[in-house]
Order: sequence, then C-alpha cells, then structure tokens
Amino acid sequence: MVETKTVEYDKPLVKGSIKVPGDKSISHRAIMLGSIAKGRTAIKGFLDGEDCLRTIEIFKRLGVSIERKGTDVVVDSPGIGKWTTPKEELYAGNSGTTARLMLGILSGSPVTSTMTGDDSLSKRPMKRVTTPLQSMGASIAGAESGDFLPLTIEGTELEGIDYNMPVASAQVKSAILFAGLNAEGETVVRETAVSRDHTERMLKQFGAELVQDGKTVSIKGGQALTGTDVTVPGDISSAAFFMVAAAMIEGSEVDFLDVGLNPTRTGIIEVLRQMGAKVDILEQNGEMGEPYGVVKVSHDRLEGIEISGDIIPTLIDELPIIALLATQATGTTVIKDAGELRVKETDRIAAVTDELTKLGANVKATDDGMIIEGPTALSGGELKSYGDHRIGMMAAIASLVSDGPIHIEDPSCIAISYPNFFDHLSQIVSARIEE
Ligand code: S3P
Repeated sequence: MVETKTVEYDKPLVKGSIKVPGDKSISHRAIMLGSIAKGRTAIKGFLDGEDCLRTIEIFKRLGVSIERKGTDVVVDSPGIGKWTTPKEELYAGNSGTTARLMLGILSGSPVTSTMTGDDSLSKRPMKRVTTPLQSMGASIAGAESGDFLPLTIEGTELEGIDYNMPVASAQVKSAILFAGLNAEGETVVRETAVSRDHTERMLKQFGAELVQDGKTVSIKGGQALTGTDVTVPGDISSAAFFMVAAAMIEGSEVDFLDVGLNPTRTGIIEVLRQMGAKVDILEQNGEMGEPYGVVKVSHDRLEGIEISGDIIPTLIDELPIIALLATQATGTTVIKDAGELRVKETDRIAAVTDELTKLGANVKATDDGMIIEGPTALSGGELKSYGDHRIGMMAAIASLVSDGPIHIEDPSCIAISYPNFFDHLSQIVSARIEE
C-alpha cells in the first residue's frame, strides 16, 4: 500500500531559523573526488539523503574505504588506478547525478562495471553523456544504443575532446571533465549557459589545474589528485522550499544558516527579490572553495515576473516551488527555456501543473515551462509526489497557503534530498496569535 501523509495548517506563520542539510551536488562530488584521489578525505556536513548514500555504496564496491558517522564522512582511497572490479552491479537508485557523473569517471578507470537505477532513473536520458564520452573513446554498452540504464562501462584509455554541449547541464559537463581528468591531452567543454560549477571548484581543491573562462572550461588529462578536507554548505535547493514559505505568508521571516551561496545556484534569491520578497544576506563566508552565509527571507507583496534565459540553470531545481510561489503573486508569471524539467525525476512541468491545478491554481503547461496567473486561493486536496522529492516538498509547502488539508501520496521520496524536512517544517510553523 502506498503511504500517505496529511499536512494541515490553519493561518500559519513561519518564523525562526533553519540550518538545512548539506548540499546534494557538493556531497556527491566530495565522495567522488575523495575516491578518485589518493589518500584521506574528511567531509563535514555531508547530506545523508538517499541519493548521496548510493554514491557511497558504489565506491565501497570499487574498493574504496568509506566510514560515515551521520554527516561526517572519511574516505580513504588508494586512488582511481587501484580500484577493484566490483562483484555486483553499481546501483544509482533515483540519482541522476550519481549515474551520469559515474559514467564519466568509470570510462577512464581500470575497472569494468554495470550501472543500474530505479524505474525513474532507467527512463532518464543518458545519451547526452554517453555520446561525448564515446567520442573520447569510452566503451559503454547497453540496450537502445546506450540511451538508458543499465549500461556496462569497460574502463579504457581516453582522448581529450573539444565539446559544444547542446544542453546547459552540470551533470554532462562534470561527466566530461571527470573523463578528461583521466584522458590523454586536453579536454574543453563549452556550455550554452553557465551551469553549477561545483565540480570545477572541487577539482581545484583536490589539486587539479583547470581553466574557467566564461562558458568554457578546459582541463589537462593525467593529473593526480590528493585527498583533502571538504566542508559542505547547506543546500540552497532545500532551503528554497522554506524561503518560498516565508515569502508567501504575511508576517513571516526565516533565517537560513550556513546556506550555500555559489552564484551558479542563487537564481532563487534573484527571483524572490524580483517578485517583491525581502531577502537579506546577513553574513557571507567563502571557506574551502564554496561561498556560504546567512540569508534572511521575509514576506512582502508579491508580483508575477518572467523567468527565462541564462538564469534557468541557476534555479532549475527550484522551479516547482517557484510555481507555487507564483500562484500567490499578483499577475502573470511566465517560466520559459526550462524544457529540461521534462526529464527530471519526473516530468516536472506536467506534475506541477496537474497537482497545483487540483488545488484550484491557474497554471498552464507549455513545451518548455509554465504560465501561472495569480493570486489564487488554494484549496486542500490529494496530491501525488510521483516519487519525486521536490514535488513532494512542494505539496507539503502548499498546505501552508491552502484552505484545508493536503494529503501527500508517497511522501517518503522526500528523504532523497531532505531527510528531516517534516521536522523542520513543524519547527518553523507557529500558530498566528490574532490581535
Ligand atoms: C545537478 C545538476 C542538475 C540538477 C540536479 C543536480 C548536479 O541537473 O537538476 O539536481 O549535481 O550536477 P542537470 O545537469 O541535468 O541540469
């Protein structure tokens, strides 16, 4: 039987401070680079969500020693050259980042392995990664000409390429850079818009040299990495759910502690400000390659805006919760150039449109985005998560502005990126004291 969770709030107020769990993208990369590197890597603030735990399990199968105590992880690796061929398949679960980045890493490793995933991941396109990797000489085989998992990767010698990426995707960029690290000669990746640059920053932390010039990144092959310490800041994509809650609800104000502020991820702050919410960055630090700080978000009158173009990769995972925000803003919000949403954990354009429409929102799906007219009063209802953590969290946050309870079908997927989401939700919601 599929589990259901009911969330109901009567005239709530959101107040207080939250330290959201570690950044998912950075946590994956810390395990990956710690395993490619020789020596010890100590990680603090690791996200102990399901996706990142899959990445740990995969490297254990490759012979890397990884000890985890909550959010502290120690990786002891002999270096990529000494990995051992796994006895079992490498299971990435629901995690696109694990699968795609691993394809790039395994292509130039000494091992042969098979990468598998859950039903959702097995339907997500892999060709965007296998095509450039195969042109570097990678040996990747699977059904349907290698477009879907399972895929078998036979590690081999690779050659650098100069590649124009057709989609702005950090997963594709990172897979090619990881392959380039183990390839002969130089690898150049050219993006259409700048996507998150955590791989580039962390490669430097582990001692690699690479050149970033606008939308182009180049790396020379044959560089050896050395283990180092990594501190993972809070995930702004997780904070975004409570940032939107604070922005939507009159009288609300929430502080986010130690949240990542990498400019390739902060599109949500830009959008909140443009729509009228108050966002203050109280303190900013730049320790260990990734900027982070304290961010205060407070409610104000909200207006619809257009969200399109180069900002899209900097808020791609926030678009479901931004759509909910737009239902509470006056006027039209147009989201364009976000066709990538159709190939996320679920088709997020269809899922967001269907679920918000059930609550009475005025949302229209387009090929590459959504058009939302607001403000609309939302009712309660029965919403599906589609096994997609970000749709599940959007449904829960909708309960703060809905008139009636929201029943979320299959909420357990939220643990993929935010295991203590419901604890934080109940911590920051307080009853409004009527004057
Ligand atoms: C990620 C990149 C993005 C994002 C995903 C994490 C990463 O995907 O949606 O949640 O860690 O590199 P794309 O690269 O497919 O845009």
